[in-house]
Amino acid sequence: MSEKIISAVITGVGMYTPDKILDNAYFESIVDTNDEWIRTRTGITERRKLENGATSDLAARAAEDLLKSKNISAEEIEVIIVATVTPDMFFPATACLVQEKIGAKNAWGFDLSAACSGFLFAFQTGCSLIESGKYKKVLVIGADKMTSIVDYTDRNNCILFGDAGAAVLLEPSEDTSFGLQDSLLHIDGSGKESLNMKGGGSLNPPTHKTVDEGLHYIYQDGKTVFKFAVKKMADISHEIMEKNGLNSEDIAFLVPHQANLRILNATAERMGLDKNKVMININKYGNTTAATIPLCLVEYYRAGKLKKGDKLIFATFGAGYTWGACYLVWDM
Ligand code: UT7
Repeated sequence: MSEKIISAVITGVGMYTPDKILDNAYFESIVDTNDEWIRTRTGITERRKLENGATSDLAARAAEDLLKSKNISAEEIEVIIVATVTPDMFFPATACLVQEKIGAKNAWGFDLSAACSGFLFAFQTGCSLIESGKYKKVLVIGADKMTSIVDYTDRNNCILFGDAGAAVLLEPSEDTSFGLQDSLLHIDGSGKESLNMKGGGSLNPPTHKTVDEGLHYIYQDGKTVFKFAVKKMADISHEIMEKNGLNSEDIAFLVPHQANLRILNATAERMGLDKNKVMININKYGNTTAATIPLCLVEYYRAGKLKKGDKLIFATFGAGYTWGACYLVWDM
């Protein structure tokens, strides 16, 4: 990486999870599954469902929580990036809807689609805007209303996903030893057959037929995705450690995308990390796609588990395929 003169640091966090809980007993009542299978195969015990509203509500509430805890006005925000695969509509962008809902009248912004890697890709993008020197307050939000695209008759997938929004505020720091230090991000479209939502786009515009065929739902070949996810997330996390001369003692926390507890454990093992250095909340929220990583950050930060100077590795894997890792030093 070229020498930076400005570093992008996280200076605020916020989150929103809906009140309605879908526990494993609920899934036992709607599909052929059981609590034991779900807990042992995925690590999930419950997830949340937004009953009224859309992704922009999850995102706006997370942003409002951040603004309130930071005690700043929405008018100070210059850029809003919303990572999501469940936008309220194809257009306008969910970022526009969030801008209006929170009253960020001086902001521009856009949506970014990278599925479960959405937050990491948006985070890198937001950091680059800060590092350019042009922007001083960039809001990066990961939000998904996954329950809007889940087929509740498909036991392979319906048990996995939940709804949430979480946000970070990025600001510049002249002390470049804090904030984003490095990132390794990848896409590989050959993964498109294994995890997708085929209907509703320009390939399969919505018709009665596409709806009858369930093309508006998530399709996932879980086993194939699982194998790739384990390998790619573990490899990239290990690679970013090696590239930056980090050993397992140096790292305060791995902040992994929460898709399956077994994938998180495999990644930690490859990095030589103790399990207590892995941020985990999949048990409470399931896979909330773009929201998982910032949601972990907010919860661990507010629980007093993060301190200034902590070295963190963010790691993810998702549809596309998309995957990557970031190394940053916490500055709050
Ligand atoms: O976030 C984006 C990236 N996504 C991921 O990283 C998800 C990756 N995949 C996974 O997490 C896992 O593959 C799943 C959790 C989706 C599935 O776990 P698995 O250990 O790979 O199970 P499997 O697909 O190999 O299925 C094992 C058995 C099958 O039965 P048979 O064919 O062996 O008789 C499934 O039909 O478990 C069965 N099964 C279930 N049983 C009870 C599948 N879903 C369920 C269920 N309850 N909900």
